[in-house]
Amino acid sequence: MGVLGRFMVGVTKCMPRFFVAGVARRYVAGKDISNAVSVMKKLSAEGACFTIDVLGEEISNLEEAQFFIDEYDRVLDAIVENNLDANLSIKPTAFGLLIDEKKAYENIERLLRNASEHDIFVRLDMEDHRVTQPTIDIVIAMHAKGLRNVGTVLQSRLFRTTSDIDSICDQLGGYADFRICKGVYLEHESISHTDYKPIVDALNQHVNQILDRGAYAAIASHDLPIIEHALDALKTRGMGPDLEDPRSDSANPRLGKGPGYEFQMLLGVRGNIRRRLAKAGHRTRIYIPYGERWYEYSMRRLDENPDVAMHITKSIFMPWTNRR
Ligand code: FDA
Repeated sequence: MGVLGRFMVGVTKCMPRFFVAGVARRYVAGKDISNAVSVMKKLSAEGACFTIDVLGEEISNLEEAQFFIDEYDRVLDAIVENNLDANLSIKPTAFGLLIDEKKAYENIERLLRNASEHDIFVRLDMEDHRVTQPTIDIVIAMHAKGLRNVGTVLQSRLFRTTSDIDSICDQLGGYADFRICKGVYLEHESISHTDYKPIVDALNQHVNQILDRGAYAAIASHDLPIIEHALDALKTRGMGPDLEDPRSDSANPRLGKGPGYEFQMLLGVRGNIRRRLAKAGHRTRIYIPYGERWYEYSMRRLDENPDVAMHITKSIFMPWTNRR
């Protein structure tokens, strides 16, 4: 992180809440599920699908998990009632993972069962390195119980990701389903790449690896070199819009997620690229965060990765680079 990045974080944190609210409106769908539904209905017109995130994460006691359990039930109802092409993104620590692992498993299993009744997929967002293995373990355990509607996120900045992909694919076969991204948490150099180029190289290699292992690839990036690499990698493997997934061990049900891959982007970020991909027929999924805790969420993101402050500053002063 450069001096300018640190400076922008400081400036953003001193801004009045109403100003931050104005900026956040672009990246957060609103305070409640009805706001999120309106945003998704509008964006459906461009052919996008969605993954819905109730804002908030690590909780301090198990009672707080109940809020997320109830709210995600409301999200499931809203998806069904409004016939939305949407799935869920959840943060395992919000379900109690760092407080009581057994209880967190119960909470997550309950949600997965409810979601599976409607063929809705649930993505476990990946948080910092403390929960990398526990998050992967949840996915493996839920598949062992026959709950196939769950997958996780892997972060290419982490050195361990190459072997995590192999290990998950070995255990889940064609049911393995990854969102692959750079990783927003700036981890220590002993466990992760810290510079741009090695992170991009790693992510590109992970896209190849996931495709070659026959797993579902959700490529989550707004970075053109990564998107272009992914498009080439898909083409080389005979994959693309309107094509049957040609990979030999991919005969498993994909829960309506397209021909073995999709692109994913955050609400409010690089809508022009997203629309271009959708227009070319690629499945594009928009990450839709909403919730009362938008301010705390935004501030925490800034602490974790000041580059976010730079992106936001750029989108204020050069809005044409980043239309919703
Ligand atoms: P990069 O940061 O280079 O961004 C490329 C361009 O996109 C920037 O120049 C800017 O214009 C724009 N941009 C990117 N991020 C922006 C932002 N926040 N605001 C405004 N403009 C922005 N991470 C993680 O650790 N665990 C997770 O579970 C997830 N989940 C996830 C889901 C989805 C759908 C996406 C797209 C991303 C994540 N991430 C994540 C975050 C991811 O790891 C990464 O930090 C960001 O996507 C930024 O990296 P890019 O590859 O987009 O490139």
